[in-house]
Amino acid sequence: MLCFTTSLVVAMSTADRVSVEIMAESYCPCAGAWEAGWQNDMLPKIGEIATLSRFFDAKKNGTQACCNPSAGADASCMHTKSECVADTLQRCVQAYYPKVWLEFTNCISGPCGGSRPDVLGCKYQFDIGQPKNLAREQICAQNLTVNWTTITTCWRGAEGVQLMQGDADKSDSVEPRYGLAGLPVVWINGQLFSHFFDCRFAGRERYQHALLEAICAASGAAVLPEACKSKSAVLFQ
Ligand SMILES: *[C@@H]1O[C@H](CO)[C@@H](O)[C@H](O)[C@H]1NC(C)=O
Ligand SMILES: *[C@@H]1O[C@H](CO)[C@@H](O)[C@H](O)[C@H]1NC(C)=O
Ligand SMILES: *[C@@H]1O[C@H](CO)[C@@H](O)[C@H](O)[C@H]1NC(C)=O
Repeated sequence: MLCFTTSLVVAMSTADRVSVEIMAESYCPCAGAWEAGWQNDMLPKIGEIATLSRFFDAKKNGTQACCNPSAGADASCMHTKSECVADTLQRCVQAYYPKVWLEFTNCISGPCGGSRPDVLGCKYQFDIGQPKNLAREQICAQNLTVNWTTITTCWRGAEGVQLMQGDADKSDSVEPRYGLAGLPVVWINGQLFSHFFDCRFAGRERYQHALLEAICAASGAAVLPEACKSKSAVLFQ
């Protein structure tokens, strides 16, 4: 029999947590909306039963092939190469600050979610990595005790290239399950959960409920958060 707790935070070791992994693109509106939704809507419900990880899309035959540092000059990118810069910045924050990368991403992306349709993405999402967003990025870094000098050395240098190569190789190794419908691709404990975000005006709640249920079902925790109690017949996909 399962037990439930009203406490928001269920202490667990990292190894016991459900792994939720996303493949994202900085300028994909649904990816930004997903990340904001994870922080604002999902985390308060699931506490610590899951761990989120992210890699950026640089798949050879995907929509951001030019973000692979080894790609040839003919590789194309739907969102242009400035997205690769935005990816690298955030990838470096992930490497150096594994505890606050999501908050950093959501901070530099600006307001998102709530009454704002997911299909529009976050307010400043498409400015990430560009001079017009620099001041915001530096304030976000300061607010989250992210050392901007460390991060800049990384994303402007060889380490950023190396990190992005890792993501590109990973992108190439996964089954291609996305298209123009959008990212992120979401895996729960390595199993594909969704290959596009339900990027519609009324889709967020339904999607998040299905995500919550899948995470609760995948959890081996003896004590599950209260939110796992709610049952729904709605299945995503
Ligand atoms: C991309 O490449 C993979 C593996 O090489 C292949 O299975 C897939 O069909 C390709 N997708 C597209 C859209 O070309
Ligand atoms: C940074 O922190 C200050 C003080 O808490 C807050 O007023 C401001 O909105 C934060 N800036 C951003 C971009 O989140
Ligand atoms: C930030 O990192 C740089 C280079 O690694 C270091 O010299 C500096 O002292 C750090 N700043 C803070 C506030 O920790």
